[in-house]
Amino acid sequence: MVNLRFLPLYLFLIGVFLLSCGKKEAGQPEVGDTTLAQSTESRVETELGITDSTPVVAVDTTPVTADTATATLDPKAAEGQKLYANASLGKIKVSCLTCHATKKDTRLRQGHTLAGVTKRTSTWAGRYKGDALAKNAYGGMLCADIFMLKAGGLKPAEVEVLNAYLVSLETAPGAITKNLTIQWAAKPPLEKDKFIDEKIAKPFVKAILQLPGDPAVGEKLFGRTCAGCHDLNADKIGPALKEVASDAEYAVTSVRFGTGAMAFYAKDILADQQIADIVAYIQSKTGQ
Ligand code: HEC
Ligand code: HEC
Repeated sequence: MVNLRFLPLYLFLIGVFLLSCGKKEAGQPEVGDTTLAQSTESRVETELGITDSTPVVAVDTTPVTADTATATLDPKAAEGQKLYANASLGKIKVSCLTCHATKKDTRLRQGHTLAGVTKRTSTWAGRYKGDALAKNAYGGMLCADIFMLKAGGLKPAEVEVLNAYLVSLETAPGAITKNLTIQWAAKPPLEKDKFIDEKIAKPFVKAILQLPGDPAVGEKLFGRTCAGCHDLNADKIGPALKEVASDAEYAVTSVRFGTGAMAFYAKDILADQQIADIVAYIQSKTGQ
């Protein structure tokens, strides 16, 4: 039997419970993409477009698919395609496909398409040329090392199958066969133990901070690019962003120059105004 002497306490507890439910509903929409947080195997499947998870607010949920149906690839290239979409190669749970499309979709990635890369005579703005190209998966070695934290980089056998896959993309739609001119503001640090030269970076960051940002535009951009790796309130592939919301300068610097294992966004990938919009969105959601 319920002891009626405690009725006021019961009512109080029910009240507190109802209030906390209401708060959750009225609160911010959760921004999170389950795609990249899934178990390895299903994540590879997702990246190859086999499955997709329930849509979540503001996140681009179009299936991430690699180009070229597996059926048309020779066995080596098919192996390479799997590797390309494998988010468990390194300590950071991202794959080549997270950052490099091989065909057009609506996601906004840090790197350019790799379709056509085997026709380029120099990659990473001259870092890889001649024999070094094929030896280093045309520059994928550097990405594996600094963005994926893959111990020891890509192994020769991995390079071999990746190269075979990249060759199969030479004529894919949207292929870029000319050398890229990477539009970095000032060259970001590309060694693990190097840091941004604050003096060089500051003017670029300041210019972005002066732009008035539009949080509504920023929300869409966030969904198309950051949300795969970041949630505002919880750790994902990268840390929760609410912690850095009060420090717009740090947030802007991280996006334009990269930070630790996070890759930078060059100017032709995210314009200054777009970075200002994204940071305005993060701040609007975290009460800054
Ligand atoms: C976290 C993001 C990220 C991941 C993961 C990543 N890359 Fe990159 N990659 C970049 C960025 C940023 C650049 C700079 C050039 C650009 O904008 O494409 C780059 C450049 C390159 C280039 C040189 C392109 C050129 O023409 O200069 C190649 C080749 C490349 N990556 C291959 C790979 C391969 C293969 C993998 C998987 C093993 C991989 N990347 C994983 C972000 C990434
Ligand atoms: C491919 C995955 C990926 C994408 C996409 C990505 N980030 Fe990150 N981000 C990371 C990782 C991983 C770290 C942690 C890096 C480290 O400390 O080594 C990080 C760190 C950061 C930090 C520093 C956080 C801290 O607490 O020090 C900020 C700020 C940030 N990211 C903002 C963004 C924004 C804004 C976007 C979208 C424009 C974005 N990131 C896109 C993976 C990503």
